[in-house]
Amino acid sequence: MSAPVESPAESTFLRACRGEPVPHTPVWFMRQAGRSLPEYRAVREGVGMLESCRRPDLVTEITLQPVRRHGVDAAIFFSDIVVPLLATGIDLDIVPGVGPVVAEPIRTAADVDRLRPLDPSDVSYVTEAVGNLVRELGPTPLIGFAGAPFTLASYLVEGGPSRNHLRTKALMLSEPSTWHALCARLAAITTEFLRVQVRAGASAIQLFDSWAGALSEADYRRYVLPHSTAVLAALAETGVPKIHFGVGTGELLGAMDDAGADVVGVDWRVPLDVAAGRVGPRTALQGNLDPAVLFAGDAVLEQEVARVLREGKAAAGHVFNLGHGVLPETDPDVLTRVVELVHAGSAR
Ligand code: CP3
Repeated sequence: MSAPVESPAESTFLRACRGEPVPHTPVWFMRQAGRSLPEYRAVREGVGMLESCRRPDLVTEITLQPVRRHGVDAAIFFSDIVVPLLATGIDLDIVPGVGPVVAEPIRTAADVDRLRPLDPSDVSYVTEAVGNLVRELGPTPLIGFAGAPFTLASYLVEGGPSRNHLRTKALMLSEPSTWHALCARLAAITTEFLRVQVRAGASAIQLFDSWAGALSEADYRRYVLPHSTAVLAALAETGVPKIHFGVGTGELLGAMDDAGADVVGVDWRVPLDVAAGRVGPRTALQGNLDPAVLFAGDAVLEQEVARVLREGKAAAGHVFNLGHGVLPETDPDVLTRVVELVHAGSAR
């Protein structure tokens, strides 16, 4: 038996992020706090998504729900990538079944000038909720997060969710100086939002560049990488592990590592042993069970969890996760089962 873990710093999750030996592979799930849980739906009854993010009592409860239920190795702060944008005065909402919708999209240099920096006092409810959580969680680490400049820019430029990111790419390619000015302001907002969470006690951060996979590697390196690098470099002084994740980013894994990540998140399209060859030898990987596998029955689930664990051994460190967020229709008992399978299947 290994000695009981007494602080987040010595947790299996942080050890795996740092590439240190672990008693078992740690596991958490993107969107573990959310609609797959009946207790989540109950506390959210009649409360808007963005309102719930600004109520420390609700944020604390919702963040703790999956930790209590599934025994995951890390908590992720309940919030949303658009919360810091809202906090700087951008008029936006999260529409159920749609996603973030922005009242006045940002498409010109004058629009970019409307974006102001984030002051920690704009998100005092985040500081309060993180503080509560760190006390409640004890040795379980809390992951803070923010959206990366490209993914945030896509919502702001398109005005909402988008399949092809057409207006975003058109702005990027036709008006690079406006594009870079926009991303520089978003990078500053994201950096401050992450700093607030780390100062309040978050043990790691994840930068979500969910939609970066829409870009070629050349465009990613030219138009996006400098800004994500600026965010991760600014966080380096905090010493917390930095996870960098996107969807459909198989061709970008090396570049996303170059941005300064300690851990690169991988979706289900690239096996982890192949992904390990695309990042530096000291970079850990996070992922990458297909969220759809949770609907395929226990035999398939066992096989696929075992495969991901096996392939993950090729990485400097492995944090088990899904390749993207938990789908709302997921049976929560299956998530608990994944935690059991990961822990039992990786016990050393
Ligand atoms: O459990 C967790 O992972 C922590 C909470 C979290 C949420 N959003 C809560 C949420 C996190 C980490 C996010 C990040 C986020 N938000 C991303 C990056 C991660 C990813 O999925 O790639 C993105 C792109 C967003 C923007 C966003 N917010 C979308 C696309 C949606 C879904 C809209 C819908 O209804 O289909 C949201 C809303 C949202 N954020 C929900 C949750 C739990 C659902 C809203 C609800 O419960 O009413």
